[in-house]
Amino acid sequence: MRKKVVAGNWKCNTTLQEGVELAKAVNKLVTEKGAADVVVVLGTPFTHIASVVDAVDTNRIGVASQNCAAEPKGAFTGEVSAAMVKSTGAKYVILGHSERREYYGETSEILNKKLALALENGLTPIYCCGEPLEIRNAGTQADYVINQLKETVFQLSEEDFGKLIIAYEPIWAIGTGVTATTEQAQEMHKAIRDAIAEKFGKQVADDTSLLYGGSCNAKNANDLFANPDVDGGLIGGASLKPDDFIQIINAY
Ligand code: 13P
Repeated sequence: MRKKVVAGNWKCNTTLQEGVELAKAVNKLVTEKGAADVVVVLGTPFTHIASVVDAVDTNRIGVASQNCAAEPKGAFTGEVSAAMVKSTGAKYVILGHSERREYYGETSEILNKKLALALENGLTPIYCCGEPLEIRNAGTQADYVINQLKETVFQLSEEDFGKLIIAYEPIWAIGTGVTATTEQAQEMHKAIRDAIAEKFGKQVADDTSLLYGGSCNAKNANDLFANPDVDGGLIGGASLKPDDFIQIINAY
């Protein structure tokens, strides 16, 4: 059975102190009134992970990094390895976010290295895919997104693929206030699930959590999550507001 997941991606926001306060506020709401069957994840900056792990009930909230290095260790100034992330108490790592692909040149080749290291270190990758506006306008979004998966996560063994969470984030909807319609989200999620079924079989496809990301908020989460193939959300801006984030967690 696939899980429902609501993951926050704080991106490059909050100081350490602000982040710990935010995590505490989310923790209070989740432990008091969060839907018990929803897996909650907080994707924090690297600098915050260990403190956020200490600040929350880790039986209830998992912590994610937003990236990890493509090399295991060594002379790579400024990089943070998957083993380091794991040693903080984080359980998840967001990989392949469109902002990393676009601004930091992350290719499928680089992402394959990161995926392998994350999995070797026992982290659960939340792997992002999604098309830019020109691809959506051309109507070739399903081919584009499935090709992103073919170049990366479809190269994994079935066992390793089964450990992933996939997030579909149309780039034109990220931080823009424009959300995919429920039909657009369902159509793409179904296409992704069908492609997984074709590659790894129906059981693996049925068991994979597919999250929607892109201006998902307290108002539209209900409709988006009502789709049969949308198993939760990867939330940017609204994850910085505890009252909105808990509404999203409770939106099923
Ligand atoms: P917004 O929710 O701010 O659009 O961001 C989505 C996102 O990129 C989550 O990873």
